[in-house]
Amino acid sequence: MSVAVGCLPGAPAVAGGEPVATADEARERGFALVLGPAGEDGALSLWDPAARATPLKVDFLGGRQGYRLAAERARHERLIKALGKPRDGIDRVLDLTAGLGRDAALMAAAGFAVTLMERQPVLHALLADGLARAAGTDLAARLTLLPAGEASQAALPAGPWHAVYLDPMFPTRAKSAAVKQDLQWLQTLCAYPDAEEEAALLALARAQDARRVVVKRPRKAPPLAGVAPHHGHEGKTVRFDVYMPLSP
Ligand SMILES: C[S@@+](CC[C@H](N)C(=O)[O-])C[C@H]1O[C@@H](n2cnc3c(N)ncnc32)[C@H](O)[C@@H]1O
Repeated sequence: MSVAVGCLPGAPAVAGGEPVATADEARERGFALVLGPAGEDGALSLWDPAARATPLKVDFLGGRQGYRLAAERARHERLIKALGKPRDGIDRVLDLTAGLGRDAALMAAAGFAVTLMERQPVLHALLADGLARAAGTDLAARLTLLPAGEASQAALPAGPWHAVYLDPMFPTRAKSAAVKQDLQWLQTLCAYPDAEEEAALLALARAQDARRVVVKRPRKAPPLAGVAPHHGHEGKTVRFDVYMPLSP
């Protein structure tokens, strides 16, 4: 973990986290972030103990995310168009860079069964908590979170998959304040991949038994690892690059 996180009572033990009794103690000890239950629903949340910013939690059902997830709306999202329609009953998607689970939830809302991989322990804990709070819903039934860890062949379930999805970190100039804050949390916790890591991630994705690999990029960014996609779906700020299988 690139930054120390203070874990309040009630937070799960995360790799790299250190127990603290209160957020004040975390601030006094110089922790940039604290993890603990917050708000009326007691959701596992992450916040800066020295600032007023709204705590971050994974909320699959409410807020901005909930609005985007109405099935009718989800189907019009560029990501869903880039995925294409499932064929032969294969509707599984492997999301190797789950992050806050927003894209995964969108894919699930559009009807895909999504398996999520996330290596950053704090983000993984937030995802697990969000899923637990959504338990019993149709959406949660279509989301499966793998144990926290680095995406690697050994850690992945077997295919066939409809698609493998990648959204690796990329430096971007975000405009809206809300996006900025979410991005800040991610940037504090996750490093940007170097060229070697980008190449390894794309190669791993393309080695899976999947009909396509879809990669999210900022609109003007070069393709992942410099490998040109077969085609792309471009929006105002982001683009979804589509790679078809290497061999039929
Ligand atoms: C930009 S975020 C993804 C955001 C996500 N698409 C969402 O909708 O919330 C990238 C995430 O991928 C994770 N990640 C990057 N490389 C990874 C790898 N090799 N294995 C597992 N997770 C990885 C990072 O820890 C980070 O949380």
